[in-house]
Amino acid sequence: MTRIESGLEGIAVAETRLSDVDGEGGHLTIGGFAVEELAPKARFEEVLYLLWHGEVGAERDVDALSACLAAARELPECTLALLRTAAAHEVPAMDALRMGLDTLSVVDPAPTDASQGADLARAIGLVARAATIVAAYARLRRGLDPVAPDPTLGHAANYLYMLEGCLPSPGVVRALETYLNTVVDHGFNASTFTARVISSTRSDMYSAIVGAVGALKGPLHGGAPGPALDMVFEIRAQAAANGGDLRSEAASHVRRMLANGERIMGFGHRVYRVRDPRADVLDRAASRLYAHAADRALYDDVRAVEAVVLRVLAEAKPDRRIATNVEFYTALLLHGIGLTTDLFSPTFAVARMGGWTAHVLEQSANNRLIRPAAVYVGPHHAGWRPPRAGERLCA
Ligand code: ACO
Repeated sequence: MTRIESGLEGIAVAETRLSDVDGEGGHLTIGGFAVEELAPKARFEEVLYLLWHGEVGAERDVDALSACLAAARELPECTLALLRTAAAHEVPAMDALRMGLDTLSVVDPAPTDASQGADLARAIGLVARAATIVAAYARLRRGLDPVAPDPTLGHAANYLYMLEGCLPSPGVVRALETYLNTVVDHGFNASTFTARVISSTRSDMYSAIVGAVGALKGPLHGGAPGPALDMVFEIRAQAAANGGDLRSEAASHVRRMLANGERIMGFGHRVYRVRDPRADVLDRAASRLYAHAADRALYDDVRAVEAVVLRVLAEAKPDRRIATNVEFYTALLLHGIGLTTDLFSPTFAVARMGGWTAHVLEQSANNRLIRPAAVYVGPHHAGWRPPRAGERLCA
């Protein structure tokens, strides 16, 4: 009898050199480096080099990669036309990103070339242009023209520049770069696994990445940070309206949500049974960012709400070990950087594009079709008869 591992929990289907998630210990290793070591120090381009080439790049090699990324940022006219149409129809940003990425295959110079070299060139184009798509679409939705990329800026700085049309401060760029590095890769999460499944059929990199974006969009995966921050703002507003204390308001709010069967976004994880180490990295980055922010109190309120949520979750589900995940502090950090809530998940995709493309390269270098089994629970040997004349097939 085939055993069912619901949700594929704990099942290893491949080896990877890209990242290691230790759920019991609360450790994340990316390309050999602890996330705490790598994320706050490295440039995003250095992390991309590490993932794509499996080693730390020499300065001149990373500079060459940065130049390739900068040269690949412009969007083809067909992508811009699609984004304009999507904006006119008020399509959500993650859907616009998914559609926009799909159009990039139209201008692939060698669509039938499945070599690692051609895939690396595609990876560069996808990472570079994903940021341009998100920024251009955000501006189109606001009724503004897209801002052309600035080839003199690094990936993180250029993303912010294309969003706002002005140069960001070094502190804000560092905060974003820390975020991009922190979430660039994370084992066989749902979106990465999706990309690898598609790639394992020897389909193309665009299809794999488009599938991954679709998986990331779901609220149980990459769609959580917007609602997580909205919850904090709601609790703040309720506390202000009732003249009450933030902590007691947070406790009743969370109890109400649990009583309604709702999940608390930014908490819980399939693999981590302790606090997500990425939450710590982003918490420290947020603390630095908010040190001089106008709304410094938001940082303290988020921490206060986190403590209450953890207490209420432990009371409500004592047999579950539900801890803070990366999305709770993602929301705080990206808000402090100046991004609006609708840009949280697309910015996650901008970062994870590095990991997805590295996984596609890794899968295709050592491929075996991923094809799990299912346990059939329907009837066998049912007798077939065609519908009689006049019999309705559907209710
Ligand atoms: N709020 C309330 N209850 C929760 C939460 C939560 N955030 N997380 C888990 N639980 C409960 C479930 O209700 C369930 O309880 P029950 O058995 O009494 O019904 C139990 O814990 C186990 O839930 P599962 O869904 O089986 O656990 P799983 O490991 O599949 O969950 C998941 C992981 C989907 C991330 C879950 O914790 C969740 O929904 N969290 C909120 C969404 C979120 O923050 N997603 C981002 C994750 S990080 C990332 O993807 C980048």
